Amino acid sequence: MPVRLIVGAQWGDEGKGKIVDLLSDDADYVVRYQGGANAGHTVVVNGETTILHLIPSGILHPNVRCVIGNGVVINLEVFFKELDKLAEKNIAWQGRMRVSERAHLILPAHRAMEEAEEKGPGAVGTTLRGIGPAYRDKMARIGITIGEFLHRNRFLEALERQRTWRERTVPVLPKKAVDPEAVEAELAPFRERIAPMVGDTGLELYRAAREGKRILLEGAQGTMLDVDHGTYPYVTSSSATAGGGATGSGIPPRFINEVMGVTKAYTTRVGLGPFPTEMLGSEGAALRDQGAEYGVTTGRPRRCGWLDGLALRHAVRVNGLDKLAVTKLDVLSGWPTLKIATAYKVSGCDLVVEFPGRIDFLERAEPLYEEFPGWSEDISNARSWSDLPETARNYLKRIQEIADVPIALVSVGSARDQTIAL
Ligand code: GDP
Ligand code: IMO
Ligand code: MG
Repeated sequence: MPVRLIVGAQWGDEGKGKIVDLLSDDADYVVRYQGGANAGHTVVVNGETTILHLIPSGILHPNVRCVIGNGVVINLEVFFKELDKLAEKNIAWQGRMRVSERAHLILPAHRAMEEAEEKGPGAVGTTLRGIGPAYRDKMARIGITIGEFLHRNRFLEALERQRTWRERTVPVLPKKAVDPEAVEAELAPFRERIAPMVGDTGLELYRAAREGKRILLEGAQGTMLDVDHGTYPYVTSSSATAGGGATGSGIPPRFINEVMGVTKAYTTRVGLGPFPTEMLGSEGAALRDQGAEYGVTTGRPRRCGWLDGLALRHAVRVNGLDKLAVTKLDVLSGWPTLKIATAYKVSGCDLVVEFPGRIDFLERAEPLYEEFPGWSEDISNARSWSDLPETARNYLKRIQEIADVPIALVSVGSARDQTIAL
């Protein structure tokens, strides 16, 4: 299976980091294809937790080459902080970290703009990492790539071009955030360090795929946060779905052999926007406690709710999922009754059974649930299908039926080995 893609099937934080780390055992390359340090991917191995924002989650495997693809937006300070932290943990990344020359930079102006944008109407509840403004500049064709950054004068020219463009368009930016010399002084220390990692990663990955090397494409965020297929405008600013895997890495779409979706056994969301199966009040708080549902990037409490079968089927469709990994099944132990939404009632409409593309429908959606008996056992030591209580197996079987794709992995804890392969 030379090229596999792992994608979040919900609103992010599905446990992609854990699954990518697990599957990296069979990979030569692990590639991030979109997003930036808005992501927080957790990997737990031998009791040690590693949180990755920009670095691909295959980095703990010493033979895996890690690539930051052209579709990613990079904050250099965050990137090097993360590499330094890995070095402190004796994780040798030298010689196997590659960065696309086409990837765009996140600059001080992007973070400054987002701070102002998120303060008033139109706020999305973002991670404040400058992601949206950086992608906006990329699409407006005034963004600055890593390739340009490598040449000081070229970088200063690009910053100057950006400044005059902004002076015409954005009147209130702090002077320091758009002054080319100030920005150059801030970023200059990173130039020499990043230079040996930069190259045409699209070409390298193309060649690797042609040679039969095993490549794992690591999605960030999730289907419902995708700028096209998510709950717009409450989304991130990149193509988080499987299609982004091709455009964001340079690997031709036809080369992707398998797409695996990762879903929690329930649902969470951070930030604003519709979430039909959200559990408000004490039930939601209980699930948040049991699942330790706090964002690893911003520390914000995650909103929690039941599994949404309509959202899951939407993810199966827009990503063309072949397989599912279901995570955090262990968190549901002790709930006497579990629920999955399989339709929405929306006032003024017929019964809705497909995830609506209209935000006003979603805001009015009242989920209709199927109910399932739960289990009380601790299942975190289950390592095979037969170790699971019958009620847990029935719950998974119903998820598989609703998604209409096989479940390949079930995760019952954060550690690498707390996994059932089916
Ligand atoms: P990602 O962004 O999709 O990589 O997910 P995050 O790392 O943001 O959030 C997932 C959280 O759940 C992390 O703290 C993981 O360590 C944890 N986790 C992953 N799988 C499981 C599981 O099966 N059970 C439990 N209890 N925790 C899990
Ligand atoms: P991983 O990869 C969960 C959410 C933010 C906000 C919206 C837009 O760890 O699953 P942005 O900063 O991207 O412009 O914010 O998207 N968001 C995430 N939610 N997991 C993530 O990443 C997220 N990255 C962004 O909370 O609602
Ligand atoms: Mg996360």
